[in-house]
Amino acid sequence: MAIELISNAFKNESDPEFVLDLAFELFKGPNGRESKAEYLPIILPWLNNPGTGVVMAYENNVPVGFGLYRTIPDLERLLYEDSTAFYSDFKYEENAKAIEMLAVKKDYRKKGIGVELVNRILEDIKKTDSKQTYATCWKGVNGESYHLLKKFNFKDLVLVPRFYADGTSGIIVGKNLS
Ligand SMILES: CC(C)(COP(=O)(O)OP(=O)(O)OC[C@H]1O[C@@H](n2cnc3c(N)ncnc32)[C@H](O)[C@@H]1OP(=O)(O)O)[C@@H](O)C(=O)NCCC(=O)NCCS
Repeated sequence: MAIELISNAFKNESDPEFVLDLAFELFKGPNGRESKAEYLPIILPWLNNPGTGVVMAYENNVPVGFGLYRTIPDLERLLYEDSTAFYSDFKYEENAKAIEMLAVKKDYRKKGIGVELVNRILEDIKKTDSKQTYATCWKGVNGESYHLLKKFNFKDLVLVPRFYADGTSGIIVGKNLS
């Protein structure tokens, strides 16, 4: 299976719709939003914001997954308040990027696309003014994204109980990029 990754551009006019559909399908549980329309005002501004980066994964020009990262002002507060910190010596850096969504269509999982997406996201973030990245992993240490990011040596930073609307806890992991 040949996968093509594209940073910060879409191949097809319908690709933003694909991002929206997959985000709704995969993340309606964790963040509790009940309709696709509720994602429009969230994701479309992210896609159009210069602080956001998107990596699309295509097979034969058909999108099969994406990763989305951005600068979020709330990150510093999340790291230092209302939560249990594992690493107090890991200092938040201005402009750190949060990997906000990682998503691969069900039939395409466990083929290495997630690893490819994270690799590209880290390369892309290194080209920005950010030298640090974070992610909040749904289902904590039991989640697929936690498992994936640990392969990239992300450190456990903060456990946030009941972080998600479905009642599951989140674990924030982070990595300094050099
Ligand atoms: C998290 C997610 C993006 C990972 O995507 P993925 O494409 O399945 O990830 P990968 O294939 O790169 O890696 C997953 C596993 O497949 C294995 N794998 C990779 N290539 C493989 C291959 N050719 N054959 C078999 N297994 C393979 C990896 O080693 C890894 O297995 P391991 O966990 O036992 O080590 C995907 O599971 C997903 O979309 N989940 C739902 C949404 C979600 O929870 N997102 C994170 C919250 S933001």
